[in-house]
Parts: sequence; structure tokens; C-alpha cells
Amino acid sequence: MTCDVRTLLFILFVLIGTCLAQNYEVPEPTVEALFPKGFKVSLKDDGYSFFGFRGNINEEFHEVKEGQIKADIVSKQGGYWVYKNRSKKLEVGDTIFYWIYVIKDGKGAMSPVFDYTVTEIPAPGSSPGKGPKAPQKTTTENDLFSFERFGSSERPCQVSKTVVQGETSVCEGNLIFNEEFEKTSLRDLSKWNAEIMFPREPDFPFNAYIPDNTISFGDGSLIISPVLTETQQGEDFLYKAVDLSVRCTGKADRSECRHEASGANVFPPVLTAKISTRHNFNFKFGRIEVRAKLPAGSWLIPEINLEPSDHTYGQEHYESGVMRVAFARGNPILAKKLYGGPVLSDTEPFRSALLKEKIGIENWNKDFHNYTLVWKPDGIELLVDGDRYGTVSPNGGFYEAARKHGVTHSSHWVKGTVMAPLDEMFHVTLGLRVGGINDFPDDLADKPWANRASKARLNFWKQKDSWYPSWYNSALHVDYVRVYAL
Ligand SMILES: *[C@@H]1O[C@H](CO)[C@@H](O)[C@H](O)[C@H]1NC(C)=O
Ligand SMILES: *[C@@H]1O[C@H](CO)[C@@H](O)[C@H](O)[C@H]1NC(C)=O
Repeated sequence: MTCDVRTLLFILFVLIGTCLAQNYEVPEPTVEALFPKGFKVSLKDDGYSFFGFRGNINEEFHEVKEGQIKADIVSKQGGYWVYKNRSKKLEVGDTIFYWIYVIKDGKGAMSPVFDYTVTEIPAPGSSPGKGPKAPQKTTTENDLFSFERFGSSERPCQVSKTVVQGETSVCEGNLIFNEEFEKTSLRDLSKWNAEIMFPREPDFPFNAYIPDNTISFGDGSLIISPVLTETQQGEDFLYKAVDLSVRCTGKADRSECRHEASGANVFPPVLTAKISTRHNFNFKFGRIEVRAKLPAGSWLIPEINLEPSDHTYGQEHYESGVMRVAFARGNPILAKKLYGGPVLSDTEPFRSALLKEKIGIENWNKDFHNYTLVWKPDGIELLVDGDRYGTVSPNGGFYEAARKHGVTHSSHWVKGTVMAPLDEMFHVTLGLRVGGINDFPDDLADKPWANRASKARLNFWKQKDSWYPSWYNSALHVDYVRVYAL
């Protein structure tokens, strides 16, 4: 830690100045990335005599600290206090965390910590301050922020239809969530929480979500691997009772937190993981891009989903919906078929009625692909590697189609928009699951269990020798998750 006398003096100066100051608000400056590298911070003058900038790239401030980048500016130019850094190479997705300090009428004031995430590097020639002024528009509700932006090269902000929890409005096309997984441990993943639970209704998968040995990082990717419970817990694991108690993230009333071994209800034979942005990032409408390599191995399923944050339309049978960004079964004979789109019922035929399919030249799990889902107020588009393979239109409302398939819970959607239940806040989930009673039809060859049989899970485990040898590339790899405003 740098702890020289100048640093201490500066912090003391800031703290004393701030305490003595009458409380005036320090406005948020404008930050922009520069071409070919660097960035610029500008603050409109309001009678200041000093402007200090303290910043970190991709590292939050946990206490009042100087940061990696320090600059004290004592004179203004053209009505603005400007700090330019021409040396720091920034990438799209990098975040500058910073605070500023100003002195006005001899009184100092410090800002809260702001952050700025790079959403684009401007093209050459569009260096700020030069070039023609952005057209001035009259302010309307639809483009609240297009007025008086300093730096004429900025494109004016058009207010997006995207809603982000905790933000009052979002500009069209902005990157609203970014995770590059440049981490080495789960603890460093600040935007995600790992599930710890026994997943049950409605699909009763054969795995438990336990992140201890199932999550790792490598080559800038998140890696979720299935691990046999036997290797972790010993051969007699099947009839163990386990209470996850305080660590549990599931619902206690649905036995997601306690496992009581009884009869055929054996302990999940596979441990996997699932992480979610539920506690950090929830949004409505947008474009999600996930670069991932899907798991290969019989009866393995990737979970690259948008899931409902509040379950406004109910908790059961997918009545609040789920959107699959990428889904391909890991069985070698099924893995050429990619699916994406909404699942609005737990049972067939409506369960897959809205999913779009794309047959690959090779198995999808052979390599990384860029899977994109565009969620709009009037429909959904699905793309892979830039190729659009499906659009889902609600027509008069998903309610109509669901009712024709006898989905009774669709009556809850009438109170929503045509997109209901896909018109509420959702969040991102990434996980891996095994088997279950709804994703593999009983007529598949060599399927060890019958979906409606009480011993589904036990029968799956008993035939381990028929599926385990196929699990040689069984992990889900996720390189990045990026969500953009519409
Ligand atoms: C620009 O930022 C880097 C840190 O990324 C810092 O080392 C450098 O001193 C800064 N340059 C100026 C001119 O402030
Ligand atoms: C991923 O696909 C989307 C949609 O097809 C495209 O807009 C985007 O540029 C792609 N991203 C990368 C990094 O290739």
C-alpha cells in the first residue's frame, strides 16, 4: 500500500475540508473514452478554484483512498475543469471508479464514488472538443438527455425502452451489464451469487447446486463442471440426509434446503453449480450476448437463462416464464440442435412450443459460440454467431396460444401486456443441470429413467456406466455476458 506523507496530508486535507464545508453537492462530471487510448473527465465550472480526480480502473474503492490515478487541476479551460489521461489503454467493458474533490469559495467538497463503464471507443477523427456540434434538440420526454452535453462528438442519448433496476433511465444501445470473467475465484465475482440448494419443482433435475468444487476459472472464462457426488461424499451418499441450513439459497418450504433420504428419493448423484445476478442486476428488455461453450455428455443441460426476478405471475409451472438464451442437450446424438426462446409452461406440448431451433453443422458443444437473445416489448429474436435463427411474436398475447394448449395458469397473464409474463424484471442465470423429468422425452434410446416413474433419479444413477463415459467435455464454459439496452 502506498502510504507516503503526501497521501496522508491529502486525505486529511480532504476530510477536514469536507467536514468544515457547508454541504454543497459536487455534480457528476462527464467521462469519455478517447481514441486511440486514454480518457477525459470534464466538470462544468461553478466557481471552483480547484479540481482533484482520484480513480481506479476496474477496482472499486472500499474506503477513502487515493486510487491508482491522481490528478490535481488548478485551472479551468473554456468553462470546464478537464482532466485528460492519454496513456491508459481502455477496453469496452472497463470501468473507471472515481471520486472528485473541488474547492469553491475556499470550501472543499468531495463527491461520492462514481463509476463509468466504457461502452465504446470513439472512432478516429471524432476527438472530443473538435468537430461539429451535436444538433441541439428541444427536450422531449423521449430524449431527456440530448441537451447541453459537453464534447460535441457524443451521440445524443435517446432514452431506451430498457429498464434497469436502480436506474431512472437508460440510453439506447448502452452496455448495461458486463461480465468478462477475468477472475480467479468465486469470491471476486461481485455481480453474482452462487446457488446452494436442491433444485426441485418443476423439473426435478438430478443434481444439487453446491459451488464448492464445481466452479473454477480459466482462460478468462467461468467453468461450471459436474462432479459425481460419490467422489465427494463416498459410496454411501445415496441415503444421506443433508440440511443446508444457513447456506441455503432455495426455498425452505419446497425442500430445496433439506434433503431427507426416503425410499427412491435418493441424494442427488451429481453436484453442479448455478450463479445468478438476482441480487445485483435485474432488467426488463434488452439484448443479451453470451459467448459460451456448452457441456458435452449425455443428459447434461446448460442453463443460460433469463429468469423472473419477482415471480409476479406465480412461482409454479414456469407461470412467470423463463427465457433460454442457449440450450442444447449434451447427448452426442442430440447436440446438433440448438434451442432458444421462452418456456412458459413446465409440461409439453406448450413447454417447447415457443422455442426456436437451429440445426448445427457440428455439435454446438464442440466450440464457443456467440449466443444472443433480443428481448423487446413486442417479441424476441434469437441469434447465434450473428445469424438470426428465430423470432418469437406474442401476436395477441402469449395468453391466447397457451390457452389453446390448455395451460390454465395463462389466465394470470391477462393483467399484463401482450408480452406477459415476459414483461417484468428478469435476471441472468448460468448453470448446469442433469436429467430431470421434463427435458428428455421417454422415447429416447438408452434413457435410464422414465419421466413419470418414482425412481427416476435412482434409475439414472444405477445406469451410470451408460452415461458417465460420455462426460469427457462436460463443463459449461462462459467467456462473457454482455447486456445492452435496446
Ligand atoms: C493515466 O493513468 C495511468 C494509470 O492507468 C497512470 O499511471 C498515469 O499516471 C495517468 N496519466 C496521467 C497523465 O495522469
Ligand atoms: C455477437 O452476436 C451479436 C448478434 O448477432 C452481434 O451483434 C455481436 O457483435 C456479436 N459479438 C461478438 C463479440 O462477436
